[in-house]
Amino acid sequence: MSLPTTISHAPALTIGSLSLDVPVVLAPMAGITNTAFRRLCREFGVGLYVSEMITSRALVERNKETMRLIQHHESETTRSIQLYGVDPKTVSEAVTILVAEDRADHIDLNFGCPVPKVTRKGGGSALPWKQDLFRDIVEGAVKAAGDIPLTVKMRKGIDADHLTYLEAGKAAEGAGVSSIALHARTASEFYSGQADWSAIATLKETVTGVPILGNGDIWSGEDALRMMSETGCDGVVVGRGCLGRPWLFGDLAAAFTGSETRFRPTLGQVATTFRRHAELLAEFFESEERGCRDIRKHVAWYFKGYPVGGDLRARLATVESLEQLDELLATLDWTLPYPGADAEGQRGRAGSPKRTVLPDGWLDSRTLGAAGRGTLTETEADTSGG
Ligand SMILES: Cc1cc2nc3c(=O)[nH]c(=O)nc-3n(C[C@H](O)[C@H](O)[C@H](O)COP(=O)(O)O)c2cc1C
Repeated sequence: MSLPTTISHAPALTIGSLSLDVPVVLAPMAGITNTAFRRLCREFGVGLYVSEMITSRALVERNKETMRLIQHHESETTRSIQLYGVDPKTVSEAVTILVAEDRADHIDLNFGCPVPKVTRKGGGSALPWKQDLFRDIVEGAVKAAGDIPLTVKMRKGIDADHLTYLEAGKAAEGAGVSSIALHARTASEFYSGQADWSAIATLKETVTGVPILGNGDIWSGEDALRMMSETGCDGVVVGRGCLGRPWLFGDLAAAFTGSETRFRPTLGQVATTFRRHAELLAEFFESEERGCRDIRKHVAWYFKGYPVGGDLRARLATVESLEQLDELLATLDWTLPYPGADAEGQRGRAGSPKRTVLPDGWLDSRTLGAAGRGTLTETEADTSGG
């Protein structure tokens, strides 16, 4: 499986000092976009591959696991890290560490997390509601980042009655961010229904001084082209669509260069990629056992649509060693062709809308003030997901 050769014809994307040959960004996904998965995606395609979310406080405290998570492989020439935080000082300290120790070439801030344990404390997608806090975090981070491009990723708002993305977009632009990514759902929508791409178009019309990246429900190269043409956005951010399909980044590169070629892997090619993913995870965790435990969650995504029996799927989902993995994969018919539509479309998180859990009185005012800030710093310690 190889990449198209005419990447120079793709629309380029400039994010501060970074120049991307194709306007494609791998969405940060907690528990997924570690260095193993990023390397794999990079082997198939071109783009900016963002780390899973890193908690600013844990970074400042030099938590051992966090320091491991921010590491990149030498092949990752553009090192991109996403930070989460609720305290301007801590976020700015975390950015300062990344810059002073030369650990990143791009830093993204997460304002999109809808998980109750985060929004309950005013973090993630709840945070832009407090305009003063949002502004102070972003301004401080941009300043600390210096020449390193600092970007933000957000949702439309808390719910349909409490949208924040337009004024947060203006504020982020004013603070000097290098791009803004919008997941076109509210926090309350979680991952349900369809992303509202019209909001991406509105943001693009409203915020004209920095690149706008669209995010939500891109499952194919064609979807990416459609989002760009329907919304006028400058680039796309792709999350769930590449779960179990790291070759999607090859499809995206092809689509943007006008090529009709798409990866249509045989079952053998899927098995080989799955095996490589497991191997890279074992390397990342420095433990074959942990790598094998982690690859289990990818089984259903890789084999979606392929005729792999329930028994074998169950055994793959409890695999304990690479040797056992090889034995199981050897029982597949590697010549089976790509199954078409059954292997495509939606995958990963979906679910139904949920009322966003917020701190008491959060919606009463658009500012938090100094007094409210102390109550938020506790929230940073253990957070996962977006
Ligand atoms: C498993 C999972 C973990 C996620 N973790 C993060 C995260 O750490 N930071 C973040 O900004 N968004 C996170 N997200 C949201 C994605 O980055 C993206 O915005 C969302 O999935 C919508 O894009 P998609 O339709 O292409 O998947 C996560 C999503 C999933 C499915």
